[in-house]
Formats: sequence, C-alpha cells, structure tokens
Amino acid sequence: MAKQRLQSAAATLTSRYPSHERPLAVPPPGSGLKPVLGTYGFPVLGHVLSTLADPLEFARERYRKYGPVWWAGGVGFRVASLMGPEALEAAWINKDKAFSSTRGWAPVIGPFFHRGIMLLDFDEHRDHRRIMQQAFTRTALEGYLDLMRPGIARTVTSWPSAQRFSFYPSVKRLLLDQSAEVFVGASIGAESDQLSADFHATVLGGQAIVRADVPGGAWARGLRARERLERYFGSQLPDRRAGDGTDLFSMLCRSRDEDGERFTDADIVNHMIFLLMAAHDTSAIAIAMLVYELGRNREWQDALREEAVAHANDQITLDALADYPVLDAAFKEILRMYAPAGTLFRQAIKDTEVAGHYIPRNTQVAINVYGSMRLEDWWPNPDQFDPGRFLAGADPSAVHRYAFAPFGGGVHKCIGQHFADMNVKTIMHQMLRHFEWSVPDDYRVQLTWGTGPTPADGLPITLRRLYCRGRPSGIERV
Ligand code: HEM
Repeated sequence: MAKQRLQSAAATLTSRYPSHERPLAVPPPGSGLKPVLGTYGFPVLGHVLSTLADPLEFARERYRKYGPVWWAGGVGFRVASLMGPEALEAAWINKDKAFSSTRGWAPVIGPFFHRGIMLLDFDEHRDHRRIMQQAFTRTALEGYLDLMRPGIARTVTSWPSAQRFSFYPSVKRLLLDQSAEVFVGASIGAESDQLSADFHATVLGGQAIVRADVPGGAWARGLRARERLERYFGSQLPDRRAGDGTDLFSMLCRSRDEDGERFTDADIVNHMIFLLMAAHDTSAIAIAMLVYELGRNREWQDALREEAVAHANDQITLDALADYPVLDAAFKEILRMYAPAGTLFRQAIKDTEVAGHYIPRNTQVAINVYGSMRLEDWWPNPDQFDPGRFLAGADPSAVHRYAFAPFGGGVHKCIGQHFADMNVKTIMHQMLRHFEWSVPDDYRVQLTWGTGPTPADGLPITLRRLYCRGRPSGIERV
C-alpha cells in the first residue's frame, strides 16, 4: 500500500512535466494516412508511472484527445497504443502480417517465457497451435474438471467464517495447488510447494522494474526459477510420455495434430511454463474481482446463489456449467470491467496502418484491451457493474464484434478460454453454495498492475459460512 501511495505521488509529479506533442513518424507523402500523435513524457521514464498508477484514466484521457491510436514514451521506448474495437481488430486480424507477437512480447516477458506459444509467429505458431489444440478438446476439459473438483471443494469448504478474510492470496493459493494437480499431475506436498515457488518467481521476474540480471533482484530470481522449472519438467518427461495421465502435462506429451506431428521435449517444457503463467494470474484476477463486485452488489450475489442452489449438488459437470446464465453474465461483466490480460504486445515488422494512422516498421504496439472495454462510446456507464448487459436478449457483439474481447482475437485468441470459464464457474459454484460475503459500503479495492488490474490490498472480505441443503429447499445460515 505504501508502494502504491509512493507510485501515485511520483506519477502526479512526473505527469506535470511539459512534454511536447509530436508525430511518431511522418506518413509517406500521398498515402492519405494520419500521423500517430503523442508525447514522450518525463525524461527517460516517459509515462510509465502514470500508466502504473491509473492505467485506465491515463488511457481514456488519451483516447478522448487522440482517438483510437496514440503513442507514449516509456523507459526508452516509444509505444503506440491501440484502443477501441476497430483498432483491436486490425492488430488481431493482422491481414498484411505486419504485427509480430514474438517481437512484441520479447522485451516484456521474453527471457522468462520464451518459445511459449503466445511468443511464436505465423506458420510456426499455427503448427504448434494445431498440436496444442488436442489438449483443449471437450474430452480433455472433462478430464481436467474431474481432477480439479476435489481440490476446489476441499479448499473452499475449509475457508473459515471471518471478518477480514484476505480473499486474493487465498484464491491464488487455491489456483497454485490446482496448477500442481491439474496442470502438472503432481500431488500436493513439498514437490508442489517448490514448483509453486519457482513458478511464482518466474512470473515476478517478467514484471520486474529493474530488468537486468542483478544478483538478488526479481529478474535474477526469475531466471534461476525458470532454470529449475526446466530441469523439473525435463526430468518428468519420459514418464509422462509413457503414461496415461489426464493432467495437462501428460496431455501435451501425447498430443498430435492430424498429420501425427507432436511436440519435442523442449517444446513441451516451454509450453508448460508458459501455460502455467497464462492460466494463473488471469484466473485469479477474474475470480477476485467477481467476488469483490458481488460483495458490493448483494442483489446480484443473491441471484447467483439462487442459481447455484438450484443445481443438484456440489459435483458440477461440464453440461451443468453450461446451464448457469446469471453466473455466466456476471463473469462476462467482470472480464469486461477488469480485463485480466489487460495489455497485449506486438511489434510492427513492416510499415502498416491502423484506423487510418501510419505505423512505421519496428514500432512497439500495445493493444489496450482493458481500456477498450471501459469506453463510454461502446459501453454506456462503463464503470458500473451490470451483468444485465449480458443476460438474455442483450448482445454486445451486435455493436461490434470486438466490443467484448477479453480473450483477444485472431490466431492468438486464448486457447484456454473454456478452461478458464469452467474453472471460474466451478470455484464460484462452491463459494456460492457454502458462503455469503460482503465488503463495507465505502470500501474500494486498491488495484495494482499484473497481467491486468490486480488487487493490491489482499481484498479483505467478510466471509460467512452457510449450510447448503441443495434443491429445492435452499440454504440455511449456521
Ligand atoms: C480469465 C482468464 C483468461 C483470460 C482473460 C485470458 C486472456 C487471453 C488473451 C487476451 C490472450 C491473447 C494474447 C495475445 O493475443 O497476445 C490469451 C492467450 C493465451 N491464453 Fe489465455 N486467458 C485466460 C485464461 C487462460 C487459461 C486458463 C489458459 C490455459 C489453461 C490460457 C492459455 C492461453 C494461451 C496458451 C494463450 C496463447 C495462445 C496463442 O498464442 O495461440 N489462458 N489469453
């Protein structure tokens, strides 16, 4: 919290620096394209502190001034930002193959997640995606649900009634244990604790402010942790290839595309490390922010609980999860408000254009998913939690196909979308059947920036256990 206050004070100070508006580059004569306008900001640092302190307001203010494409400075880079569904679509559809994910993501998370599928481009990416797809079929998801249900039930029902229950660290712990069981096929214990610690250090490495291998720093710890993860997965590979496990690691080992192609050992290690990262923080943000908004909006919590209690028992199946319209709408509303993968990166590998703006080769591009789904132009009253936007009869895609796009678009669209949906709903199913919760009326969660807007204060909630007898008699307080 002290860090947040310091960051915000420094942001206010640096934002006052008189930085002159300039074009990112002059468009070729006769092209009819407009220049991308923006400012570098404070010397060297650029606008980094403002984007960390209040990324949403910073982006919306620039959108109001410049429209869907602008640039801003940040630690030596000049980054072009895209906002609004039309600009997002241009980058995702990537029709002239001008945008590289490899080069866009490399400066951000490259050393920790290199050769993860999101960091591959074009034909190579397509070939890997075809193999990986086999680990995300409906049958595979049913296998993961069987593996995750007991752990979720065990952990959620062990949470106590409490006045200030720190929800965010608790759900992170639940997801880390789950990663060990469902992703890696390891049992909970010393081995999974080491895995969790290494995985956590790898993620923090990617978010380090001092981005150099300085002994004792987050970057250095992340690199060493990644090396241990590589050794761990490498040592387990022969058994997983030979076995018949239904965890994600085993599934990746056995996945083949239609031509029988499969991953090399090195590919599997790289993909496993990336998948753990892609799944973990995003799901933790989504669940935490859903619990937060339901704690503030009790009428929606009650509506969701009614729906949860109407299900026969705790043992939810994939089919039953499809029959959860109010929870589905509330989850979508959270993804709209708090995009867990909030900014995506690309680099232009040739001169190109977005929304009539000239983007020269070698430009680093930030796709602002978070800000885009909070624009008044597309979402009336955008900061208001209202699952009704997604309930029967409402169709946000009628406004624009990419107005609601928390899982991205184009060839890199999230491969784990249905996994995330199943996981979040299964956890919420347990929460709603066993607890009610609230936050004080005047409480506003403090947010910091991880993969997207992330609780910085642990998200304290008042948690109260319920006794759930199931359909049709509902719940009792104990
Ligand atoms: C609420 C949860 C999640 C959200 C909001 C989310 C969002 C996203 C987004 C926006 C992308 C596109 C990245 C880009 O274009 O650069 C992406 C990619 C990806 N996600 Fe997710 N994700 C979530 C959960 C998961 C889970 C649970 C998994 C795995 C089990 C997963 C695996 C991946 C992978 C492998 C990619 C890269 C796909 C590719 O490049 O082909 N995600 N995700």
